[in-house]
Amino acid sequence: MSPLLTVEDLAVEFRTEDGVARALDGVSFTVEAGETVAIVGESGSGKSVTALTVLGLLRRPPARIVRGSVRFRDRELLRLSRDELRKIRGKDAAMVFQDPMTALNPVQRVGKQIAEAIRLHSAVSRQQAMARAVDLLGLVGMAQPGTRARQYPHEFSGGMRQRAMIAMAIANDPALLIADEPTTALDVTIQAQVLSLLRTAKQETGAATVLITHDLGVVAEMAERVLVMYAGRIVEQADVRSLFASPRHPYTAGLLASIPRLDVESQTLTPIPGSPPSLLAPPPGCPFAPRCALRQGRAECVSERPALREVDGHATACHFAELAE
Ligand SMILES: Nc1ncnc2c1ncn2[C@@H]1O[C@H](COP(=O)(O)OP(=O)(O)OP(=O)(O)O)[C@@H](O)[C@H]1O
Ligand code: SF4
Ligand SMILES: [Mg+2]
Repeated sequence: MSPLLTVEDLAVEFRTEDGVARALDGVSFTVEAGETVAIVGESGSGKSVTALTVLGLLRRPPARIVRGSVRFRDRELLRLSRDELRKIRGKDAAMVFQDPMTALNPVQRVGKQIAEAIRLHSAVSRQQAMARAVDLLGLVGMAQPGTRARQYPHEFSGGMRQRAMIAMAIANDPALLIADEPTTALDVTIQAQVLSLLRTAKQETGAATVLITHDLGVVAEMAERVLVMYAGRIVEQADVRSLFASPRHPYTAGLLASIPRLDVESQTLTPIPGSPPSLLAPPPGCPFAPRCALRQGRAECVSERPALREVDGHATACHFAELAE
């Protein structure tokens, strides 16, 4: 069977005052039905642009899709009309955002919004849809869901809005759920609750989940496979255990070294020195070269862009991946 989602050689640019920024430069990956894939990488690496492009939510302009393909259940999404995409979004594929107000309408009662999302995609009566909306609010852990359904988003706390948005996202039993930093804006206890809720949502719907996060702890806990992005490209891809145990790209190794390890007494953070390259005029060699501890003056690193290749079951874009640790 072919994967649920196949993204191939996706390239996206933004026209800015300073020039054209290559936000995505040849991103390829697949998501199988039911699996959880995490996308990690520093700010600006292209995680959100990837998610928005896949679901047809990228604003064009300022963005432009230069090349590539996004196949979802054997349909090419990049060629669909707005209306066709809208039909897929919210039914077969749904998105959970960092800011729930991106998805919630501030002037409509929460229950009604969820009920309408249901009625948009299935032929049920108003009452049936509302009953399902209340059920969903209960499922996402709200006490007195019937009362909550009659309230407006501003009457909810941040964590509750996040729950409401997840309820809406799973209302039509999607096959694919993309969650972009779903917990970043929340405090730590609520983060844990929302994550466990995402897990419940996944069990309930069996949806494949793409989880975008800065938090490698979350990745370790939730994901089966990890994509590491750097400067608009995937630089490493592996299953979660193998990635944590033996990263095959120096950037991944640096990310892992920057988190406090639970199994080691020292809690010192060692963030990777330097910052990501400009996307306006990418240098010819490896985009990570100026920050790479492994490079050690090797000429190949600045002359030739490393392509993704397989090393020890990982896909890695490093000329010297065999030496990475
Ligand atoms: N509206 C925009 N206009 C111009 N450039 C943009 C716009 N949105 C994104 N970009 C460019 O695309 C790049 C990738 O952005 P993206 O939002 O995908 O990063 P990200 O990995 O999601 O970062 P973060 O972790 O901060 O959310 C950015 O570095 C930026 O240069
Ligand atoms: S190709 Fe060279 S600069 Fe790039 S990550 Fe590998 S060793 Fe570092
Ligand atoms: Mg983002």
